[in-house]
Amino acid sequence: MISPVWHPYAHLKTQRPAPKVVGGEGPRFTLEGGETLLDATCSWWCMIHGYAHPRLVAAIREQAGELCHVMLGGLTHEPADRLARELVRVTPEGLNHVFYSDSGSVGMEVAMKMAVQYHQLRGRPGKHRLLSLMKAYHGDTAGCMAVCDPEEGMHSLFAGYLPRHHFAPAPTAPFDAEPEAVAADLAALREVLERHHREIAALLMEPLLQAAGGLNMTSPHYLRGARELCDEFDVLLVFDEVATGFGRTGRMFAADHAEVTPDIMVLSKGLTGGYLGHAATLATDRVHEAFVGDSPEHAFMHGPTFMGNPLACRVALESLAVFEEEDYPGKIAGLNRVLREELMDDKALAAHPAVADVRVLGATAVIEAYEAADLVGVADWARTQGIWLRPIGRWLYTMPAYITTEADMRRITDVMKGWFLAR
Ligand SMILES: Cc1ncc(COP(=O)(O)O)c(C=O)c1O
Repeated sequence: MISPVWHPYAHLKTQRPAPKVVGGEGPRFTLEGGETLLDATCSWWCMIHGYAHPRLVAAIREQAGELCHVMLGGLTHEPADRLARELVRVTPEGLNHVFYSDSGSVGMEVAMKMAVQYHQLRGRPGKHRLLSLMKAYHGDTAGCMAVCDPEEGMHSLFAGYLPRHHFAPAPTAPFDAEPEAVAADLAALREVLERHHREIAALLMEPLLQAAGGLNMTSPHYLRGARELCDEFDVLLVFDEVATGFGRTGRMFAADHAEVTPDIMVLSKGLTGGYLGHAATLATDRVHEAFVGDSPEHAFMHGPTFMGNPLACRVALESLAVFEEEDYPGKIAGLNRVLREELMDDKALAAHPAVADVRVLGATAVIEAYEAADLVGVADWARTQGIWLRPIGRWLYTMPAYITTEADMRRITDVMKGWFLAR
């Protein structure tokens, strides 16, 4: 019988039955029938500890015996309080307030509403639009679709339905660019701010790594320059660290590479080690204080049912403890070394006529092809080699679980390279 499950991003006419996953351990999951696949994407980049991590599973079990859920409206509980304190501790200095929600998209919706209301409460109601970057991806809800790349992004069909915001060009300087090489990117950002700052509440960005929009990597100098421009133009800076947070770029947060504190920062995916859906939107004192006042408008009118879910908070605490106690920075550095050696340093790969670029940052690597057609069939072929790969358009990438061994990392890079060089 055909399953009634409607799959994401699937073309219903051409999709094939989805393989059924029955379990998983470490960086691999197992399909019905016994086939195991090494997951090069760690399930949309969230299963940073891999599958069935004993400490994370035990934390959920233990919490389930105490309290599975309770509303955060007017109530609190130990896991929510403790996690908020931990997030304040590990995030950049100054982010002292934590608003929970249930997914990356909703975390971003919270950030955008917070930014608009912040200016409203300061007597600047005209600042009700947002500034985003081309190549951005911030989620699939309406508010998020409106700040995704409006041309090449996947939501252009909805243009008539969405609010209109402003866009600056995507940064082009690479991660290791000198400050001078970032000047043109910052000049382009300045130009949009000069023209529209009176109606811009916040600049949103995926710091250092625009993920779903094509694994576009840029320099920490761009983050520093953006911070200065936001201060100059009275615009809040929002870092969407849904994908970059918890080690993906090689530091705990992408912001750490630049030593920049955004006004608002959004975390999800790796927050719970991927074990339960949850998100946190953090804000500085400056943002929070604007909401302290006497009028009814001072309340922040948002409150998802499952915000601060005790199971999610408890597993997030365990995820963070594992990250800190088991030398994850060291593991990520090891994966980075392999990715550089195997992909960046491979001259034959760089010279292949279908390959436009090869980039690596932290535990992320991408082979950018010139055409999406160059990657047709790669997922099926990778599966025959025991690897789960799922390219985005013309970007063949890996974002593995951090517990992936260096030998397994090489199995993944061999298949990524092999698609171009060894078939
Ligand atoms: C940078 C970024 N922001 C937001 C989201 C949306 O998160 P979610 O899928 O949990 O709604 C994603 C998801 O891939 C993302 O990569």
